[in-house]
Amino acid sequence: MVKACVAGASGGIGQPLSLLLKACPLVDELSLYDVVNTPGVAADLSHISTPATVTGFLPPNEGMKQAFTGCDIVVIPAGIPRKPGMTRDDLFKINAGIVRDLVKGVAEACPKAFVLVISNPVNSTVPIAAEVLKAAGVFDPKKLFGVTTLDVVRAETFVAGISGEKNPSKTVIPVIGGHSGETIVPLFSQAKPAVDIPAKDYDALINRVQFGGDEVVKAKDGLGSATLSMAYAGFRFAEKVIKAVKGEKGIVEPSFVYLPGVPGGEAIVKTTGCEFFSVPIELGPSGAEKAIDVVSTANDAEKKLLEACYTGLKGNIAKGVEFIQNPP
Ligand code: NAD
Ligand code: LMR
Repeated sequence: MVKACVAGASGGIGQPLSLLLKACPLVDELSLYDVVNTPGVAADLSHISTPATVTGFLPPNEGMKQAFTGCDIVVIPAGIPRKPGMTRDDLFKINAGIVRDLVKGVAEACPKAFVLVISNPVNSTVPIAAEVLKAAGVFDPKKLFGVTTLDVVRAETFVAGISGEKNPSKTVIPVIGGHSGETIVPLFSQAKPAVDIPAKDYDALINRVQFGGDEVVKAKDGLGSATLSMAYAGFRFAEKVIKAVKGEKGIVEPSFVYLPGVPGGEAIVKTTGCEFFSVPIELGPSGAEKAIDVVSTANDAEKKLLEACYTGLKGNIAKGVEFIQNPP
């Protein structure tokens, strides 16, 4: 039996993500938590003829506790999105506290659940989540994931635009580092099957993957950021976690994790200097069972991109840790 919760379920990502989880035959129970509108979203989804039962919860009367109790997996897309001109770090002021409080709720109600953080800035909200879980004495680094799958999905899509591959997701592309601008580093040299990117297209392709989020923010013109592609990406990652827990082997997807707590991670920390970092993760019944070192095999152009990544990412991580260790 799998019980999943979406925290932030009434939002632009939360609603389509909840729809995909309701449509997934691997989910038996779906709880929807938000500060608004979850009874309506739950009533709507509950008419869909799939096995999962759906219940909506709101804050009063211990709604968060009820939503989280018994959960195996909690996906968190709660918080404000960007408007044109904003960086993801500009969201920290509001979203840091939202993620802190939700993860406190997880620590109390379902400390063994897998926690998938979508809320931005991911480079800081995942360290916040780790610190909250540590303070509560329930941190299992194999079960905490920053969802960076949208960067992978974008890399697959944009490279197919160049290679002509009809099914973009057939190409496996490690996208590593963090989830904002220059901290996002696609390793096209390690694509499988190999892709041939003409030199004239390389810089623009890297830039498009690193700043794909801005493209959507600009196009939505003040009405938010990526929601539908994110719901797809969030579901793709959540489904992989659930399948791995149920025993399916050989599932690998990049995710932003606390590397010292994941087998294989320490060696990557030595190279990158970053304790939180996205690399391809082999998933299994206990969660992140192995961090795969694709950093040391990056080519020279990618190593240059990685240097810029480390600088930005270290500051973002420290900001998240500081928020919990020395609260403002
Ligand atoms: P949205 O404003 O449409 O939805 C956010 C939802 O969170 C709202 O329904 C709101 O009521 C809810 N919420 C606010 N405070 C809450 C709380 N304390 N508890 C529970 N719910 C709460 O925003 P969106 O477009 O869905 O984006 C959500 C977040 O996801 C943003 O921070 C955005 O930057 C981020 N995001 C991340 C990625 C990624 O790749 N990781 C991609 C896209 C968006
Ligand atoms: C994205 O990459 O689309 C998200 O992080 C949302 C954003 O702010 O760009």
